[in-house]
Amino acid sequence: MSAGLPESVEATQRLLAAGGYVADRALATTVHLSLVMGRPLFLEGEPGTGKTEIAKVLAAQLPRRLVRLQCYDGLDLSAAAYEWNHAQQLMAIRLAEASGSAQDRASLERGIYDRRFLQERPLLQALTGDPAVLLIDELDRADEPFEAFLLEILADFQVTVPELGTIRAVTPPVVVITSNRTREVHDAIRRRCLYHWVDYPDAARERAILKIRAPGVPERLSAEVVAFVQKLRSGDFFKLPGVAETIDWAAALAALDAQELEPATVDETLGVLLKYQDDIAKLRGAEAAKLVAEAKAAT
Ligand SMILES: Nc1ncnc2c1ncn2[C@@H]1O[C@H](COP(=O)(O)OP(=O)(O)O)[C@@H](O)[C@H]1O
Ligand SMILES: [Mg+2]
Repeated sequence: MSAGLPESVEATQRLLAAGGYVADRALATTVHLSLVMGRPLFLEGEPGTGKTEIAKVLAAQLPRRLVRLQCYDGLDLSAAAYEWNHAQQLMAIRLAEASGSAQDRASLERGIYDRRFLQERPLLQALTGDPAVLLIDELDRADEPFEAFLLEILADFQVTVPELGTIRAVTPPVVVITSNRTREVHDAIRRRCLYHWVDYPDAARERAILKIRAPGVPERLSAEVVAFVQKLRSGDFFKLPGVAETIDWAAALAALDAQELEPATVDETLGVLLKYQDDIAKLRGAEAAKLVAEAKAAT
């Protein structure tokens, strides 16, 4: 095992906890295996369930630098891996010409396809330099041709630049891939990874998360907020609140000096929890009051 990696599932769980991340045993096991086996971690789940956060916490705790590639529609090689700096290449040619040192065409060409003129983007940055945690965030937003290119990197931790050759990782990065599952990521990528579905936390874990992430919130309010959100998640809404929304809502209520849930304050702060007008309209009033009563009964 490489130096600096946790020695057991428990040690991995403690490492995540030290970074403020509450992981259940199954998640800690997958993270641990991915670290010791040197295999990419593929985390899939609803938005706001703590996928991106795992990569950030791992980087902070290992510690390693975090290299983040945010995926989007149209993401290509030049934004993800590398790009030749044409302006600098042109300048180098002009300078060679002006100084009279312009040699034959072949050596000039060799000269401009030099590492100096290669602009490194996240995928290449993660392979060169100090050991890194590479976060490939929301891969489902990129298009499929991009996945094909990713395969080379994930399989061999190397990037091939046609004009230059193959650049291999000095220390393979810890790779974390996330997807919000707006489409299915290709089998070939999945096969190279260890997979974990990141679900919404149960009530006990969500209370533990609030304790760490919103420490100023009164105990009773915290418990009621969690019970409320847990019940809300079994309802039929367009977008369910993630853990991030639970944290925000608890902090918002605490900022309003609430000690416990009350229907009026809940109605006034629903925009912290739900982000679509139809969802808010559906919950406001009688439905919210009913959930408040149920949340209090459950705590
Ligand atoms: N298990 C957890 N432990 C601690 N904080 C968490 C956990 N899950 C989620 N969070 C909090 O929720 C926020 C949103 O999580 P994030 O990783 O951005 O979600 P995702 O990437 O799945 O959309 C994080 O910033 C973090 O504060
Ligand atoms: Mg995310």
